[in-house]
Amino acid sequence: MLSYRHLFHAGNCADVFKHALLTRLLAGLGRNPNPYFYLDTHAGIGRYDLTRPWAQKACEFENGIGRLWGRTDTPEALKAYMDLVRAENPDGKLRYYPGSPLIALRLRRLGDRMVFSELNKTDHAELEALVARERRVAVHLMDGYQALKAFLPPAERRGLVLIDSSFDRAREFPRLVRALTEAHERWATGMYAAWYPLMDADTMAAFERNLRRTGIRKILRLELATAPRDQTRVIPGSGMLVVNPPWHFDTEARPLLQWLWGALAVDGAGGTRVDWLVPE
Ligand SMILES: C[S@@+](CC[C@H](N)C(=O)[O-])C[C@H]1O[C@@H](n2cnc3c(N)ncnc32)[C@H](O)[C@@H]1O
Repeated sequence: MLSYRHLFHAGNCADVFKHALLTRLLAGLGRNPNPYFYLDTHAGIGRYDLTRPWAQKACEFENGIGRLWGRTDTPEALKAYMDLVRAENPDGKLRYYPGSPLIALRLRRLGDRMVFSELNKTDHAELEALVARERRVAVHLMDGYQALKAFLPPAERRGLVLIDSSFDRAREFPRLVRALTEAHERWATGMYAAWYPLMDADTMAAFERNLRRTGIRKILRLELATAPRDQTRVIPGSGMLVVNPPWHFDTEARPLLQWLWGALAVDGAGGTRVDWLVPE
């Protein structure tokens, strides 16, 4: 039984953080003329209508993409991401928000190949309908962690794997570490981006310890916290691990996250972090 539905959260702070970084990673891959492979293990529906009742219920997007929508001073590093969101809303009103599969599809070149897996039947059907006419794109009703086993290593030998679990199970942190370890054993040179929520200090310390024990090198940690820690109903922020990031991704991401923090933080709460959890 899957209880999490991304419909309620689309376009929130975590999505802005994740998708801004994802856009930079994919744009980086696109600078090399050779085709790349992209695997999105927890893909969602691909495009979210923010006027639908489920999005209106919590209005999480208002504190996320809603805060960036009217800004005319977004930095260059955010331009590609904002352009993608604007392209979904050509009349200038924020209504549609692109999920990770749609972001990847819009940045794809001829020859790049994409695989999306999604375990929720309804969400899978919506995503399948969205990408039905796309070539070199496959959508699977499949557990995302199984997809890592099924599709790695890819024939292209370069590419990105996004692991964006909904973290609706208590043991998701150790599960993510195991999945990363196994995927890395299959494809050590691939790039991996794994999203996680910021939780209590003990959970985060165990996560960090377990990651260091994997033996995987070149793990960059990026975090953005925008809400006070004492708000029990919302997570204070989110993080992303990038294994084998592009050259200088750390220096590029620092000012980007700092700008996002300034735009999204509630009463100056939280902050940013970009550091090497495990260097080269
Ligand atoms: C955080 S959302 C994904 C959002 C999407 N990556 C994006 O950025 O637009 C997590 C998704 O994973 C799906 N899901 C949950 N458990 C899964 C599993 N074991 N394998 C694949 N998908 C799963 C949920 O139905 C949900 O759509």
